[in-house]
Amino acid sequence: MNTSNKVYKGDSIKLLKDIEDHTIDLIVSDIPYGIGVDTWDVLHDNTNHAYLGSSPAQERAGAIFKKRGKPLNGWSESDRLIPKQYYDWVASWASEWFRIIKPGANVFVFAGRRLSHRCICALEDIGFTYKDMIGWEKRRAAHRAQRISIIFERRSNRLAASKWQGWKVGNLRPVFEPILWFSKPYKIGGTIADNVLQYNLGAFNECVLKKYGQESDNIFHIQSQSCDTGLHPTQKPLKLIELLIELTTIEGQIVCDPFCGSGTTLVAALRLNRKYLGFEKEEKYYNITLNRVSKESDELKNMLFKNGE
Ligand SMILES: C[S@@+](CC[C@H](N)C(=O)[O-])C[C@H]1O[C@@H](n2cnc3c(N)ncnc32)[C@H](O)[C@@H]1O
Repeated sequence: MNTSNKVYKGDSIKLLKDIEDHTIDLIVSDIPYGIGVDTWDVLHDNTNHAYLGSSPAQERAGAIFKKRGKPLNGWSESDRLIPKQYYDWVASWASEWFRIIKPGANVFVFAGRRLSHRCICALEDIGFTYKDMIGWEKRRAAHRAQRISIIFERRSNRLAASKWQGWKVGNLRPVFEPILWFSKPYKIGGTIADNVLQYNLGAFNECVLKKYGQESDNIFHIQSQSCDTGLHPTQKPLKLIELLIELTTIEGQIVCDPFCGSGTTLVAALRLNRKYLGFEKEEKYYNITLNRVSKESDELKNMLFKNGE
């Protein structure tokens, strides 16, 4: 498989098998979080009533419940299987990721707060070293906790409504998302310094953090701009992905995103003079990615032409 500046349409879990061992220098991927109702995010084949809005309680509650679509209550047997199924899903591709990246190479995974622990265990079990959880701070975050007293008011239960004033069901406002940082262990008997010399991989460039206005700590504050929206429901800020790429690779290295959505990782790689390799199974997002990377390449070519390079 050609791994240099390519986007493939299809299931990366199958397609990655065509990549040779030790080819990729970095994987940055915003994987499906397994918590939504969209077809690209539902990863299991159980009946999963709460997700699909068909449990008796959801049907009674009607549209409000359906809109939410995220099971937190744990009332159904099938919902309780989801974390384990998510682990199995991650395990179904983790060994391929491990095989295709070079020793000392890094992997950044955006995984949701609710199931990221399963992703960590699945990648760790396959052989990755789990380095850290970077917190990506999102100042604009929707808060979906419901006041319980309102339900009692609707039921005309004034006593309970007054007793439970100020209490909510749901979560606190989610102002960070985890970016899981893994690396592939370097050769047994070698050192990290030898690995850096042999593969140009294994260290991170601290100077880059300053360039992106970050401290040398593990909370990143880059926010989405208007240009970072509208192409995919979970589109990530280009600058944030650029930071991850520049932090851990040098020019010319190959950055892969097996779940590329609208292609943010690939555009970031292109801008930083790295090679990109992407996979997307949905036609709509594959086409968006193709348009984005070809537009970006044209702009870069024009810029080089103007600069006489
Ligand atoms: C969370 S989104 C990525 C969005 C991306 N960060 C962006 O900025 O546009 C994950 C994407 O993975 C795709 N996907 C899910 N399973 C896949 C598979 N097996 N192979 C390839 N793509 C897949 C989905 O269609 C979805 O577009």
